[in-house]
Amino acid sequence: MKTFYIETFGCQMNAHDSEKVVGTLLREGYMQVVDEADAGLILYNTCSIRDKAEQKVFHRLNEYKKLHGEGKRFAVLGCVAQQEGDKIFARAPYVSMVAGSASYRHLPGMLQRLEAGETRITGLDDRQTDETFDTEFTARTNPHRGYITIIEGCDKFCAYCVVPYTRGKERSRTSASVLAEAQRIAQSGFTEILLLGQNVNSYLDPSGKRTFAELLAAVGEVAGIQRVRFTTSHPRDFTRDIVDAIDAVPTLCDHVHLPVQSGSTDILHAMQREYTRDWYLERIAWTKAAKRDISLTSDIIVGFPGETVRDFEDTLTLLDTVGYDTIYGFKYSPRPNTPAIHMHDSIPEEVKIERLAILNARQREIQRTNYARHLGQTMPIMVEHGANARGQITGRSTQNKTVNFTYQKMSEGSEIDAPSIGSYIDVRITQIFPSSLVGEAVSTPFAPSAALLAQQALNARVSVLS
Ligand code: SAH
Ligand code: SF4
Ligand code: F3S
Repeated sequence: MKTFYIETFGCQMNAHDSEKVVGTLLREGYMQVVDEADAGLILYNTCSIRDKAEQKVFHRLNEYKKLHGEGKRFAVLGCVAQQEGDKIFARAPYVSMVAGSASYRHLPGMLQRLEAGETRITGLDDRQTDETFDTEFTARTNPHRGYITIIEGCDKFCAYCVVPYTRGKERSRTSASVLAEAQRIAQSGFTEILLLGQNVNSYLDPSGKRTFAELLAAVGEVAGIQRVRFTTSHPRDFTRDIVDAIDAVPTLCDHVHLPVQSGSTDILHAMQREYTRDWYLERIAWTKAAKRDISLTSDIIVGFPGETVRDFEDTLTLLDTVGYDTIYGFKYSPRPNTPAIHMHDSIPEEVKIERLAILNARQREIQRTNYARHLGQTMPIMVEHGANARGQITGRSTQNKTVNFTYQKMSEGSEIDAPSIGSYIDVRITQIFPSSLVGEAVSTPFAPSAALLAQQALNARVSVLS
């Protein structure tokens, strides 16, 4: 029996790529094992967004090396694979395969070569490929969320970022193929879909049929689908019709992740983000003017070359102005191949650490105020984890907030002891924390059964397909 073990790092696009790689391996007759010691083939799907992430890869590879026994094979996939290419063979000679994400559709052939005993197999892309990797053999390993990559690669070339070099050029799938996948996902029982792309809203339908906002709406109308999320949106391509679509289609979630990176127009310019603070704030104003309470979240880099105290202050005041519900803050990390690697990394590490701490402290205060509005509200929650030792179940609101809650049977006759993962339940919020909400269930769980969903999907509205 051919066995494999896979470990995944990085973003949700990587997580979903691994689902597709797993599906492909299963189809090729491999069996997945949960312990690397039991695997004939060990795959490592890597991330190189920051230096730390990349270091982790080589650290883990060294650990693997200790395991390197008779007949064991190693493959490095993902962004470090694409970035380092066959240099990986020199650094870790026991690795037999190095493949970037743009080559995964050729995996069956590469696996055959591996099985034939080849030890220097590469699948690398030089920003040439037009192909996307959509496969019906996706192994959907997330129990409650169906991922769909609608656009791959990136053409934006921000000065600090490796992604355009590790993920290839920007290429979208047809809206018909995205909708067909959404329907397959719904038929298999998922009610939540996450549309993915490095810049998901840069989506350009090759068939010319739908804009990104129209595609969002169409996915939201697929029978059985109750929640549609999308990430990551780029401010440059963020159009007003996206907000209109959220207002119009109830299944689109109340959440937009719109990374700003910096609140200083000068730094944005140096980062080659190609928008200004004001331009960004205009998109925020559109989102805040929506009828729905759309939660805003962001990514921020501190300590970019040349970032002055004043520039950093601009980022802090932008946090106050927007009032994000969450931010992901990062210290600038110089990356190979990027334009910024040639800039002097002028901000000392201790200053980066200090700015990140100030940023996070400011955001914590903002969240304390923001989250207070939920006290006493009742909101539908999708259950993501069963009860912990204290009896708390964890789920997520449409705004993507984590909600921990208790559940008691509504009536003596009720047969439901605990809500199952992927079901929905109304929760009344009784307590707030800076980054989570606490509450108690006030309804019985509701989720259409898989059979009902399948029936609904069969009756799917023809308009969705046309
Ligand atoms: N395409 C998305 C982000 C993808 S990368 C966008 O443009 O918004 C995820 C996040 O990693 C980025 O938003 C950025 O905040 C962070 N990041 C990327 N490169 C980085 C670097 N060299 N150093 C520190 N953070 C980085
Ligand atoms: Fe990186 Fe910029 Fe592309 Fe985002 S838009 S993936 S930050 S280059
Ligand atoms: Fe990392 Fe590649 Fe994603 S660098 S963040 S895994 S696109």
